[in-house]
Amino acid sequence: MRAAVARRFGAPEVVQVEEVPKPTPKPDELLVRVHASTVSIADHRLRTRDVPDGLGFLIPLSLGVFRPRKRVLGMDVAGVVESVGGAVTGFAPGDEVIAMLGGSFGGHAEYVRVPVSKAIAPKPSSLSMEEAVALVFGGHTALAFLAHVEISSGTEVLVNGASGAVGSAVVQLAKLRGARVTAVCSGTNADLVRSLGADRVIDYTIDDFAANGETYDVIVDCVGNAPFERVEGSIEPGGALLLVITDLKGVLSAKRHSRRSGKLVTMKLAPVSSEDFAEFARFAESGAFRPVIDRVYDLDDVAEAHRYVDTGRKRGNVVLRIA
Ligand SMILES: NC(=O)c1ccc[n+]([C@@H]2O[C@H](COP(=O)([O-])OP(=O)(O)OC[C@H]3O[C@@H](n4cnc5c(N)ncnc54)[C@H](OP(=O)(O)O)[C@@H]3O)[C@@H](O)[C@H]2O)c1
Repeated sequence: MRAAVARRFGAPEVVQVEEVPKPTPKPDELLVRVHASTVSIADHRLRTRDVPDGLGFLIPLSLGVFRPRKRVLGMDVAGVVESVGGAVTGFAPGDEVIAMLGGSFGGHAEYVRVPVSKAIAPKPSSLSMEEAVALVFGGHTALAFLAHVEISSGTEVLVNGASGAVGSAVVQLAKLRGARVTAVCSGTNADLVRSLGADRVIDYTIDDFAANGETYDVIVDCVGNAPFERVEGSIEPGGALLLVITDLKGVLSAKRHSRRSGKLVTMKLAPVSSEDFAEFARFAESGAFRPVIDRVYDLDDVAEAHRYVDTGRKRGNVVLRIA
């Protein structure tokens, strides 16, 4: 099969399309014929070893010592089940699915093995493969973080980095649950986040949301520049700071800040059940949740896709068309 392979760390050009052996599913795995994946910030991080301050010591363990531990990148897929292992129930060849591979990677290939323990859901039939895959990375991450908090009608939620893959999903899911959403992004992306349901937009190039005296029940930081020390005063008593990305200092101080302030500070992903993921896919099927696609690249142009993701400026998702 053809796959985008990164045999060393480095610039986008290290990713090359090669022939590699087609995988064989284990008893508890599906073999999925991949139609689309995305090139995400996670692929950028793995390829370049770009991790937040202080977390470099994790690189050998999580990303690899001399070369990438996972040579085929891609955390998400939309495709068709080709075959199933002997212990698999609930899926059959021919089923159209979306799946979050997470740290197993492997989505940038014509076929991938997907353990049934992963979040797998029927592909929304109203969406193309390219649209459906754009639900997965941001949607799964948003579900995992929003699971920490109760959101109901009128809950004030601020999303920092609202125009990225994760932020655009958090805005929509918070809105679906009844929140009043404030989106922080550059002015260029204000119309996008408003179209996703944001009630208010703060342009970070002009205003500092942490310095205007306004407060929120939940702040979701998808950028990594809203540590508790900076935004504590912007969080209501009993509120929460969800750190989708943070540095070593943020990791080490989260529990202490929570205990001292009575505000939840966490950088952990809550588990997302297949039921939750399937319910999310049904929202998308009905049109209530919209996948955000910035650009679509063919597998042969995977290095170009990486180059664009490297800019840090993508809006929503960069899709890789594979089949
Ligand atoms: N904890 C986890 O398991 C987990 C899972 C997924 C992602 N993450 C992390 O979460 C972060 C977000 O992921 P993502 O996929 O959403 O990234 P992304 O799609 O690459 O984010 C790009 C967006 O960030 C915006 N942005 C850049 N600087 C900003 C700033 N200072 N303020 C507000 N917005 C800014 C950009 O908009 P402008 O061009 O307008 O600035 C762009 O639209 C990444 O650091 C990723 O590593 C963590």
